[in-house]
Amino acid sequence: MPDGREKPRPHSIAWLASYPGVREHEPLRPQSWYGIGGSARYFIELADDAALPELVGRLNRDQVPYLVIGAASNTLFASDELPGLTIKLSTARISIDVDAVFVSAGTLMPKLAADTARAGRAGLEFAAGVPGTVGGSVVGNAGAFGGEVRDRLLRAEVIDPQGRRQVMTAPECAFAYRDSVFKQSRDRWVITSATFATTSEPAATVRARMLEVQKHRRATQPIEQRSLGSTFKNPPGDSAGRLIDACGLKGLRIGGAQVSPKHANFIVNLGGASADDVLALMAEMRDRVRERFGIELEPEIRVIGQAPRA
Ligand code: EPU
Repeated sequence: MPDGREKPRPHSIAWLASYPGVREHEPLRPQSWYGIGGSARYFIELADDAALPELVGRLNRDQVPYLVIGAASNTLFASDELPGLTIKLSTARISIDVDAVFVSAGTLMPKLAADTARAGRAGLEFAAGVPGTVGGSVVGNAGAFGGEVRDRLLRAEVIDPQGRRQVMTAPECAFAYRDSVFKQSRDRWVITSATFATTSEPAATVRARMLEVQKHRRATQPIEQRSLGSTFKNPPGDSAGRLIDACGLKGLRIGGAQVSPKHANFIVNLGGASADDVLALMAEMRDRVRERFGIELEPEIRVIGQAPRA
């Protein structure tokens, strides 16, 4: 250039359209456990993560927004069309060793529970009560019925924004209640697999505990309906479900979304619920709990595209 300054180059994402396996304007509803979703500008489903380091590095270099999803069982798609690339990881590899189990991020937690139980490996029975993938469960330190990811995770295998594979130990993941370093500050990192510690026990004993988890879940949660699990985190020392219930909100309905009559911290999709219905119901639940108890409920679900209304 004549004045010697380099003109900033607009980042091009044209290459995405011809990247092998990428689809354009992909509807997200079929990907959503909840049955709610607009579309993704670009979408790819990967059953293998071999190409992922290069892809993640390139997306970051070109400043392309991207979102990694698993089962989308804790994610509300709240925008008409998600910009950039939505990556669905459907890797499903489990390798059970003597004291540890290596599992790819796209594997469903109940499958991890069932496979390890069958092999006589104990410690992951709680995973039978977590309806999501291993990757999502590591990000959110998912837990149920007395167990959570941080109790058993030895390490997570990840891809950093430069596209390098790294191994993170459990302390490096900085787990807290429904929280991790990935939620706090590493949203551009991708978890590809996790390694969990297990112990040896007769398969029948492990399986019995796993069935107990499933039974308890069936008894207390509306698992026969579509929901995103617990809508809000439990405030310290209390339970979001108890607080919402005490406000008399069970059964409250906005459009196709309803506060579950079975568990007040679950919002179920009665059919045809929109993201706005869910967000409006969440706002009502927060307002009522704030007015009555002076407690600010914090969303547990991941809302993509629009912040939950205060
Ligand atoms: N309660 C009510 N009314 C309700 C629901 C619950 O009074 O409508 C009371 C219950 O009687 C109980 C207390 O609230 O005394 C706690 O309820 P519950 O045992 O059902 O557990 P929770 O705290 O609501 C947590 C996790 C669940 C997990 C269960 C079981 C959170 C936000 N939720 O629920 O996780 O499955 O324990 O371990 O931590 C999720 O994160 O998506 C999830 C489903």
